[in-house]
Amino acid sequence: MIILKSPEEIEAMRRAGRVVALAHRRIAEAIRPGIRTKDLDALALEVLKAEGAIPSFKGYQGYPANICVSVNEQVVHGIPGNTVLREGDIVSVDIGAIVDGFHGDAAWTYPVGEVDEAAQALLRAGEGALYAGIEKARPGNRLSDISHAVQVYVESRGFSVVRDFVGHGIGRSMHEAPQVPNFGPPNRGPRLKPGMTLAIEPMVNAGGYEVEILSDRWTVVTRDRSLSVHFEHTVAITEDGPVVLTAL
Ligand code: MF3
Ligand code: CO
Repeated sequence: MIILKSPEEIEAMRRAGRVVALAHRRIAEAIRPGIRTKDLDALALEVLKAEGAIPSFKGYQGYPANICVSVNEQVVHGIPGNTVLREGDIVSVDIGAIVDGFHGDAAWTYPVGEVDEAAQALLRAGEGALYAGIEKARPGNRLSDISHAVQVYVESRGFSVVRDFVGHGIGRSMHEAPQVPNFGPPNRGPRLKPGMTLAIEPMVNAGGYEVEILSDRWTVVTRDRSLSVHFEHTVAITEDGPVVLTAL
């Protein structure tokens, strides 16, 4: 069952989303060659604490850190640690925060210093795919219109979308119905209504879409070890169209 949110509840989710956006801004400023992935985790926690928010991910199914930091061929759920970022890397940062009982969830992939053309093209495809999906998050459309728009955007640029992980409804829980795949035919699934709140989160691989999980039981990597990017926003569907809640 999809839980519809009132305008007041969407305002509460905007407060959670704002904190997530603040943490992203702080991390974007800090990313440079030489920084460790655990330094990014500490920065995010600092911002969340200062804003009175709680990290959503810590302890979720035993997840050991505050945020996810996934480097290069890592797709999602990388555990921050002693890994040092180097010039030319790309780093995906996923942050969830709870404010007044509501969740915000957003991910972004950042270049570390100068990255090559191939990485730049992949970054553009991932960001563009997110916005192609968000554009379809409006009343009257159906859920898979989002999925289809993401897939078409990505594949027309010669990249692939991950199948094994999907976006999700979000609210008082980090994961609510419905699942939001990043692939599939258009015009399927529930009709989109004002008050629905979705985390739309394409994961885009330079090579094949297949992924596997490392022996730490969390880190998801591309099977062919090609680069991967992840872009996610928490979005509310309103009469006037999509509203991005994880923005400043
Ligand atoms: N953005 C991810 C998601 O929506 C974050 C989950 S990471 C976890 O599923 F550690 F909390 F599992
Ligand atoms: Co999410």
